[in-house]
Amino acid sequence: MNGVRSKKLQKEQIKQMSTDTDKTEVGSYFISNYPPFSQWKKENIAEVETVLTQPPHEEVPLGLYLHIPFCRKRCKFCYFKVFTDNNAKDIENYVAALCREIEMVSKLPVMGDRPFRFVYFGGGTPSYLSSRQLTSLVDRLRANINWDQAEEVTFECEPGTLKEPKVHTLRQLGVTRLSLGVENFTDEILNENGRAHLSDEIYRAWEWIKAADFPNVNIDLISGMVGETWENWKYNISKTLELSPESITIYQMELPYNTVYSKDILGNKIGIPVADWSLKRDWVNYAFDEFLANGYHVSSAYTVVKDPEKVNFSYRDNLWQGSDLLATGIASFGHVSGVHYQNKAELAEYISDLTEKSQLPLGRAYTPTAEQSLIREMILQLKKGFLEVSYFKTKFNVDIIEHFAEQWTTHKSKGFLDFNQDRVELSRKGLLHADALLPPFFEDKFRDVRYT
Ligand SMILES: C[S@@+](CC[C@H](N)C(=O)[O-])C[C@H]1O[C@@H](n2cnc3c(N)ncnc32)[C@H](O)[C@@H]1O
Ligand code: SF4
Repeated sequence: MNGVRSKKLQKEQIKQMSTDTDKTEVGSYFISNYPPFSQWKKENIAEVETVLTQPPHEEVPLGLYLHIPFCRKRCKFCYFKVFTDNNAKDIENYVAALCREIEMVSKLPVMGDRPFRFVYFGGGTPSYLSSRQLTSLVDRLRANINWDQAEEVTFECEPGTLKEPKVHTLRQLGVTRLSLGVENFTDEILNENGRAHLSDEIYRAWEWIKAADFPNVNIDLISGMVGETWENWKYNISKTLELSPESITIYQMELPYNTVYSKDILGNKIGIPVADWSLKRDWVNYAFDEFLANGYHVSSAYTVVKDPEKVNFSYRDNLWQGSDLLATGIASFGHVSGVHYQNKAELAEYISDLTEKSQLPLGRAYTPTAEQSLIREMILQLKKGFLEVSYFKTKFNVDIIEHFAEQWTTHKSKGFLDFNQDRVELSRKGLLHADALLPPFFEDKFRDVRYT
């Protein structure tokens, strides 16, 4: 994620973000925070250490993220910090360090009396752990924390890692939202893109998941996998509708620097046919139309849900409203009492900090100004498709319509959104371009820096 890049590549990246060129270039990225991660520094770690050891703002919701960085195989498009070819001992060493981290975190004054409102097991592939490893992990976690009062416990799964007893174990452990990385229903495409699973494994896992009756099941799809065509995309959407999950998330294929495909393109000069942005957007547009026609509702630029009245994605909604998130696991991102932080990204260091030095594996931090916190919440919430002006007046004492008048007017003139003094509302075109609408809100000093 934090690779060093040449000036030329950085310029290309900036060009891409500022002009939204149509070609899917290497260096595209997904905006999930502000200020850019590249600005978070090791030198600021004392700032997060201070807030961790102070009582919290009790009214701020608290969440927990646990990162499980193992996968069966590295997908050729994936930019996450993951390890493959692991043996049981590697996993046990990691899980032991993670449990130690949770034990330390659970004693921090910043916990206060707050229960966890949401918990997220993300990856990597948390479902890579066996039932036995999972039960042992949760038993050890429960010695220090519980999520009995959480309104949502999410667990990310790769279809081919699931077995019937493991699905039951997940339900028993309190998982309420199971997120399944389907990505595509066609074996040739799954195979070409380096996925470890094939379509049979999706259908097999689906029967077990349905039988276990989770309150919320999400399916992830990617628009623009290598080999995708209109015909196949339509097939993906009809298959997804047949499964009829509570929630469907579609990501438009990005090519950040550290993916196998990006390295092939840049280093080995191999042409990788990833669809242009306009085609990927057309595919998402088609999918939204189909899902809406079948009773789903838009929940964000990426997600449709069957029933918006249910708590559908507590993790996302709380995080986008500035909740605290205690980050555990290698390279995890967190936010606590107004300070951003990330754990160390090197496995050996992460483990030795916890197991030998008995210290939290904090890697870098950043304390946003009030203006930066406002921008962060505003651009993240914009991904939901609308903003309530009163929310920002109450929380930040800023009229966002006046404050960002130029950006709203420009975006409106291009048909991305409409606004009045109370509300900003993205059009369908705006939803499809959501990520490209965000950089204009960045402060000048962060426009020309790399993002990660
Ligand atoms: C941590 S994975 C989900 C769980 C599990 N590891 C899996 O892949 O099945 C999160 C999701 O990120 C998405 N993703 C990963 N790399 C991507 C890329 N380069 N562009 C768009 N989406 C991507 C995929 O849809 C994937 O399901
Ligand atoms: S997309 Fe999921 S399974 Fe594939 S490498 Fe990334 S985290 Fe692992």
